Amino acid sequence: MAFAVVTRELSKSFAHCQALDKVSIQIEEGEMVALLGASGSGKSTLLRHLPGFVTSSSGEIDVLGQTVQAKGKLMPQFKQVRSRVGFVFQQFNLVNRLPVITNVLIGQLYETPWWRSLFMRFTVEQRQKALEALASVGIEQAAWQRASSLSGGQQQRAALARCLVQKAKIILADEPIASLDPEASRKVMVLLQQLNQEHKCTVLVSLHQVEFAIRYCARTIALNAGRVVYDGPSSDLTPDLLAELYGSSAHELFNSHAQPESPSATHSQSRAC
Ligand SMILES: Nc1ncnc2c1ncn2[C@@H]1O[C@H](COP(=O)(O)OP(=O)(O)OP(=O)(O)O)[C@@H](O)[C@H]1O
Ligand SMILES: [Mg+2]
Repeated sequence: MAFAVVTRELSKSFAHCQALDKVSIQIEEGEMVALLGASGSGKSTLLRHLPGFVTSSSGEIDVLGQTVQAKGKLMPQFKQVRSRVGFVFQQFNLVNRLPVITNVLIGQLYETPWWRSLFMRFTVEQRQKALEALASVGIEQAAWQRASSLSGGQQQRAALARCLVQKAKIILADEPIASLDPEASRKVMVLLQQLNQEHKCTVLVSLHQVEFAIRYCARTIALNAGRVVYDGPSSDLTPDLLAELYGSSAHELFNSHAQPESPSATHSQSRAC
């Protein structure tokens, strides 16, 4: 079995806090996994380690079978591996003043000679691929609009189209639906599911809301205070279990309509930071 992501005892300390504490996870190629946790639990920090945006304090990380970080250092091969990792942020990471299609074409810069990428000169074939990617996420009609003119949901779709032209084998999505209304959130999660099932991308998506984890991801890894407190089927995440794992912070993980009556604050773990 091939693993897309493996972390071994991954820890990260910032000046005043332990953001990750010996996190060991294994994600197989082709899985779609939710990363769940209340605010400050370490979701973004974990995701940002995988493409090497952040270096660890200790531990090791393998991505697509290659060790990309060990003992707090990036390995030389991390850049090559990063080219196969697409990243979608909560705050839509598009260049606002550029047309949508150019934002998508940026996903091909890894395969573009430097002199072409310097002037953002893309071939007809590359433009065609970008248009196809926009069509497959359902916003081809917006290709020539400025990115800033798109709705939040459309911007997330454009970011996912960029992952497609990048030929990303892994998509890391950091709270991609946090700024979206319920309908736009649903569409983005369905699209992530399609990228997982049809394009065979491994997806690791951080979420605040357990309902989305249960509906769209077979497996959930839950963090609290930088530690893995649950790794298993999303369907087993009942309100009672979440209250046990998160205590008084459990309410953050439910939509208001699904909020547990009174989460028992018994096993509340104090935040590490
Ligand atoms: N660059 C940084 N410098 C100092 N502390 C940081 C830095 N980045 C993250 N932290 C701290 O690490 C902890 C984990 O942060 P992280 O952003 O990973 O949490 P999160 O689960 O993504 O939270 P949220 O749901 O609010 O996005 C927090 O206490 C945060 O303040
Ligand atoms: Mg975060």
